[in-house]
Amino acid sequence: MARVRLNWQIKTLLPVALVLVNGLLLFALITLTLQDPARNQVLAVGFAGAIVVCAVLFMVLAVVIHRPMVELQEKIARVQKGDLFVNVSFADRNDEIGDLGSHFNDMVQQLRESREEIERLHRTQVSRAEHLATLGEMAAGLAHEIRNPLAGIAGVMEIVGRDLPSNSPAKEVLGEVRHEVMHINKIVSELLEIARPKPPVFRQADIVSVAEHATLFARDQASARRVRLEVLPGDPVPQLEFDSGQIHQVLLNLLLNAVQACDAGGSVQVEFASDEHYVITMVTDTGKGIPPDVLPNIFRPFFTTKGNGTGLGLSLARRIVEEHGGWLQATSELGRGTQFRLALPKVREEG
Ligand SMILES: Nc1ncnc2c1ncn2[C@@H]1O[C@H](COP(=O)(O)OP(=O)(O)O)[C@@H](O)[C@H]1O
Ligand SMILES: [Mg+2]
Repeated sequence: MARVRLNWQIKTLLPVALVLVNGLLLFALITLTLQDPARNQVLAVGFAGAIVVCAVLFMVLAVVIHRPMVELQEKIARVQKGDLFVNVSFADRNDEIGDLGSHFNDMVQQLRESREEIERLHRTQVSRAEHLATLGEMAAGLAHEIRNPLAGIAGVMEIVGRDLPSNSPAKEVLGEVRHEVMHINKIVSELLEIARPKPPVFRQADIVSVAEHATLFARDQASARRVRLEVLPGDPVPQLEFDSGQIHQVLLNLLLNAVQACDAGGSVQVEFASDEHYVITMVTDTGKGIPPDVLPNIFRPFFTTKGNGTGLGLSLARRIVEEHGGWLQATSELGRGTQFRLALPKVREEG
């Protein structure tokens, strides 16, 4: 049923008119009973008076209520179109309509300030992003330039080492230099991967097989440290679309970190779970854990607590997972162990 819409004019005038008519009827009743010959004139004057009162009331209401309402509607329409430099003129009136007006003006001002704040943040973010992009390009160029001479140095080391007599003390030094060169090469290669990321190539694949394959690669380090490494069979998880090479790299990174965090006798487990949107791979270790004040830093590039670490593994891992539309998070308890959760979306959003 359509609701009847009564204008405010009718709503306000109706009771006034009813009271007036009521008064007139009463008046007519009295004059009728009095049988006064002049009663028609009195009645006519009464009616005319009532009409004038109604008209005056109507005009007063129009000025007092209707005008501000029309103005407010116009201003709201302008705000809707995005103009936040509007003000209503009746805000300084000393009544409820004035309160309404000043609240409206305050609200528009707040909206305007919020919008300016958002625009300012957006500008700083864009300039930061540009800055980072330039830095990334520079880093990539630098990494590329360093890699070639590095390969040259490694080659020369090899040749020099071969020519040295086997009992020469220089051989040991040379071995150390080679080790350092390989470390620089690792940093530079990972940096290059971060600065010039390859977009993932999505294919249907089985996350469990990829994880099992990654544990094979980590097994050597695990057994050298006498750490148990196992993939737990769980409920079957669905096939997903992901870049198996990249996710393999991420899982291997997580597994090696986990193994490196454990002392002899520790264990690293890989498990799978799924919720409505994601398939989650969990890598849990019984290692030394991460202090709460360190935890927020571990995904930052170059953050490492290891003497021979590059600090690039986790930042690269997180970037890869986020490019897949997933997420990578860590929880840890100092002295008890750490869990990394890697989530990949069940349905890939085309982007
Ligand atoms: N499973 C883990 N247990 C404890 N600490 C960890 C674990 N994984 C990562 N970390 C911490 O995060 C840091 C950064 O890791 P990563 O980015 O892989 O760099 P790297 O392994 O070269 O140090 C590590 O140096 C370590 O302090
Ligand atoms: Mg690492």
